[in-house]
Amino acid sequence: MKKPFLFAVLLALAGPAAAQKLTAFHPGAVWPDNHGTHLNAHGAGVLFDKGRYYLFGEHKIAGLTGNRAQVGVHCYSSRDLYNWRDEGIALAVAPAGSGSEIEQGCVLERPKVVFNKKTGQYVMWFHLELKGRGYAAARTAVAVSGKATGPYRYVRSYRPGAGQWPLGFQEAWKQPLPGEKDLKWWTPDWYRAVAEGLFVRRDFAQGQMARDMTIFVDDDGKAYHVSASEDNLTLHLAELTTDYQDFTGRWNTIAPAGHNEAPALCKRGGKYYLLTSGCTGWAPNAARSFVASSIWGPWQALGNPAVGPDADSTFHSQSTAILPVAGRPDAFLFMADRWVPKNPIDGRYIWLPLTFEDGRPRLRWADTWTLGVFDQPRPAATQ
Ligand code: GAL
Repeated sequence: MKKPFLFAVLLALAGPAAAQKLTAFHPGAVWPDNHGTHLNAHGAGVLFDKGRYYLFGEHKIAGLTGNRAQVGVHCYSSRDLYNWRDEGIALAVAPAGSGSEIEQGCVLERPKVVFNKKTGQYVMWFHLELKGRGYAAARTAVAVSGKATGPYRYVRSYRPGAGQWPLGFQEAWKQPLPGEKDLKWWTPDWYRAVAEGLFVRRDFAQGQMARDMTIFVDDDGKAYHVSASEDNLTLHLAELTTDYQDFTGRWNTIAPAGHNEAPALCKRGGKYYLLTSGCTGWAPNAARSFVASSIWGPWQALGNPAVGPDADSTFHSQSTAILPVAGRPDAFLFMADRWVPKNPIDGRYIWLPLTFEDGRPRLRWADTWTLGVFDQPRPAATQ
C-alpha cells in the first residue's frame, strides 16, 4: 500500500476532524460541534443546569426543504457557550403511521426546556402542528425526562385556555357583537374588537391557538408560556402549574392585533422584557421590544431594539430566546435564527449581547465577540 493512500485511509477511519476549540462567538458563521459538524438546533432554547448549558433545537435534514420534522429535537451541551458537544436526539419523533401526535412529518418547532425543582423533571415544551394539517392545529406540547439530555417522553398537547377568559376580560365582551365578523381588518373598529376578544371568543371552547412560543421561569419558580395566538395576531401569556406540565387557567393577552411572533422573555432589574418579530415566516423583519413591571402587563412597546446596519431585518434573523449568562449578573445573550428556507439544515445562529440603554433593550451587530463584553462597565440594572 502506498504511503499517501494509507494516510488517506487512516484519516477516513478517524472520522471528521474534531473541531478546534472556539474562544468567541461568530454570529452567522458555520458553528462546528465537537465532531466538526454545523450545529443542528434551530429555533433553539438553552437550559443552564448544574454548571452546564444544554442547547435544544429543531433537527433539520440535509436537502429537505419545508418544516416537517423527520428526527426530532437535537441536544448539545457546553460549559462555555462557545464549544458544544453533541448529545444526540433528546426527543425523537414517533414512526410515520404510528398515529402519535408527534409522528414523523408533524411540525415540531422552537423546543424550550426548563427544570422543575419540585418534581426533579426536565420539561420540554414545543410548538406542534399535527401531520398533514399545515399550521391549522396550532398546538403547544409537552415532553418530560429525568435527565437533561433525555430521552424525553411525549406527554400531550394543548390548546391553552379552553373555557377560561383572560384576566380582566369584561362581562360585556363574553358575547359576540352584532356584525363583528364582517368588520374590515386593520380598521380602528376591528382593532378594538380584537382587543375586546373577537378571536378569544371564537376559540374559547376549543382552546386558544398556540404557535411560536417560549417558556419563562420567574425568580419565584413560577413558569409562564408565551405563544403567538389568535392566528398570530395576539400574544398570549399563560401561567403553568407547579409541575410545569399544564396550565393553571390564568392567562392574559399581550399587544392585541400587534402581529408578533418568535417571543423571547427575560427579567432584568425587576422588569420583564419581551422581544418578538413581526410575522413574515422565515423571511426576517424588524424585531420589536416591550417592557412591563408585572408579567401580567400592561406591556409598553419600546420599538426595534436593533440599531446600526441591518437593524431593519434584525441582522437577517428572527428571535428564539434570551439567555441570562450564568454567574454574570446583568448579562443577557440574544439568540436568533438566520433561517435558510432552501436548505434549512444550513440555518445560521445569530447570538449577540443584549444590552440595555436608558431602560431599553439594545442589539448591535458584532462579527465576533466574547463573553468578556459583559465585564465592561455598563449602566446599572436599575436604570
Ligand atoms: C416563522 C416561525 C418559525 C417557522 C416559520 C415557518 O414565522 O417563527 O418558527 O414556523 O415561520 O415558515
